[in-house]
Amino acid sequence: MKFPEQRTRQHLDGYPHGPITLHTREDYDAMTRIGHIAADCLNFISAHIAPGISTAELDQLIHRFMTDQGTVPATVGYHGYQHASCISVNHVAVHGIPSTSKILKEGDILNIDVTPRLDGPESNHWHGDTSRMYTVGTKIPVKARRLIEATEKSLAAGLAAARPGNRLGDIGIACEQVARDYGYCIATDFCGHGIGLIFHDNPEVIHVEPEEMGPLLVPGMIFTIEPILNIGRPDVKTLDDGWTVVTKDRKLSAQAEHTVGITEDGLVIFTATRGA
Ligand code: MF3
Ligand code: CO
Ligand code: CO
Repeated sequence: MKFPEQRTRQHLDGYPHGPITLHTREDYDAMTRIGHIAADCLNFISAHIAPGISTAELDQLIHRFMTDQGTVPATVGYHGYQHASCISVNHVAVHGIPSTSKILKEGDILNIDVTPRLDGPESNHWHGDTSRMYTVGTKIPVKARRLIEATEKSLAAGLAAARPGNRLGDIGIACEQVARDYGYCIATDFCGHGIGLIFHDNPEVIHVEPEEMGPLLVPGMIFTIEPILNIGRPDVKTLDDGWTVVTKDRKLSAQAEHTVGITEDGLVIFTATRGA
């Protein structure tokens, strides 16, 4: 299969839930630009992570970095969200709200999730969505290190399964297998998603064995893979702030995310670190 000449939105066999956008090579070029900035942003912030800094300070640095790069944090104003990043510490699974009262301490683990989008006219509003795990200080509990290792391997397995000829469901099977091998659970309340000019688009990308295998993966499909792994139970709940999602058992949770595009012979990881 080849890239479409024109961007199209199509109902695909195996995905009855809505149209999926098939992007052009030119669209991939734009996604490469924003993906690099998203990756650079996560690299930039790592030097600032240390005991004593607040997650609000980290968010401010991230916001400035995005603006300096000619991008806009897509999360600001998104369903009322007010910050440039989500920063989820320890048992916070996802959507941690940056806060001046959340001070990082030795031994914490955290996920930082950023989604810069290109500025300018709406036809240029390409999104790059990526997150990774960080550790604070030098005394990181072994169980936390092992969870992060499993999460990175789960994402890597999902990436390896994302190629033409496979189906969307193969990604979930691959992500889940790694979690199981470690004795961890996938938090199934959250999915990856189509992305491009729209932040959250079809298809949903689930990180466990699916009920339906979904559509064949074809060139032009752009989506995120972002498994959340829990040490304990998969169950999570949203706090009264309307955003912060924590594990019900308060055990550690971790996540990692890349934005990817299917190509004629494989995959491009738009949010990969350059040269890595
Ligand atoms: N970046 C998140 C994702 O991976 C979405 C965050 S939306 C926010 O899809 F509003 F919570 F920031
Ligand atoms: Co995402
Ligand atoms: Co994200």
